Amino acid sequence: MGTRLRTLIYTFIFASWVILASGTHYYQKSLLTKEDLLPMEEVHLETKKSKRQIEFTTENDEASAVLPADTPENSVLSPGEGDASDLPTCLLCVCLTGSVYCEEVDPDMTSVPALPKETAYLYARYNKIKKITQKDFGDIVTLKRIDLTGNLISEIEDGAFSKLTLLEELTLAENQLVRLPMLPAKLTSFNANHNLLKTKGVKANAFKKMTKLRNLYLAHNQLEAVPVIPESVSILHLQNNNISTVTVDTFCKSNDTYYIRPNMNEIRMDGNPVVLAQYPNSFTCLQALPIGRYQ
Ligand SMILES: *[C@@H]1O[C@H](CO)[C@@H](O)[C@H](O)[C@H]1NC(C)=O
Ligand SMILES: *[C@@H]1O[C@H](CO)[C@@H](O)[C@H](O)[C@H]1NC(C)=O
Repeated sequence: MGTRLRTLIYTFIFASWVILASGTHYYQKSLLTKEDLLPMEEVHLETKKSKRQIEFTTENDEASAVLPADTPENSVLSPGEGDASDLPTCLLCVCLTGSVYCEEVDPDMTSVPALPKETAYLYARYNKIKKITQKDFGDIVTLKRIDLTGNLISEIEDGAFSKLTLLEELTLAENQLVRLPMLPAKLTSFNANHNLLKTKGVKANAFKKMTKLRNLYLAHNQLEAVPVIPESVSILHLQNNNISTVTVDTFCKSNDTYYIRPNMNEIRMDGNPVVLAQYPNSFTCLQALPIGRYQ
């Protein structure tokens, strides 16, 4: 490709970006946390048809304070330098310092987009991503939060998240997962509500070593058993599954009647066949009874 042609292409792309950026406006709005949402700031991005007007709502001052004009080299490509593979992502999506917002991208986004280096926050909600491969996040070890709510994900390769040692919040809600992949040990919040998870696909010890996990959302799945819940967990959502029994060791310790479970504030087991009143010894270590059927 001739230099002139390349310059022309870059000029075109740069001009498109300027148009996009100049038609972008931001405003800030607080949002109430909804039932099943993670207790983190919720960022909503609506991309209008023209793609010129983007409404951006956030509680996060840090994100909204930075306009595209201030974005660093990783999100805006200057003509004649940088890696062109970054470009489509930051034209289809909105890239702010360290954050990539790709919500309801048109044309359909069917796989994880190439992420700029140093991406820490990825919001790729309500797209048509079907599969997560080992390569998708392989090099982006800076990721702290990934939100893939509302895609069509039915398969995640086992090593897909294995290099993400900084990852703290992972949301895979509203997908089509039957089984979970290996999860990073440092997660503080994991959300797989509204999937098709089966007991066979969620190993009993899947969460056992996640000693920082505070919020675990597995509601609206097809689980028939409760996995081992680490002591750090304070909110556990298991409503609308197919759990028909619990034991003393589900939440407490059968060999230690004086044990009091720390941290646990909320367990939801409503919408399961289990009748909790039949297992009075299973909750003695808890400071509050699970929400669910008692008769
Ligand atoms: C729920 O679990 C029972 C076994 O406890 C099983 O027979 C039934 O098929 C399950 N239902 C669904 C919808 O998976
Ligand atoms: C209870 O059993 C576990 C292993 O299952 C053991 O680590 C723990 O020390 C036991 N606690 C008591 C009080 O015996």
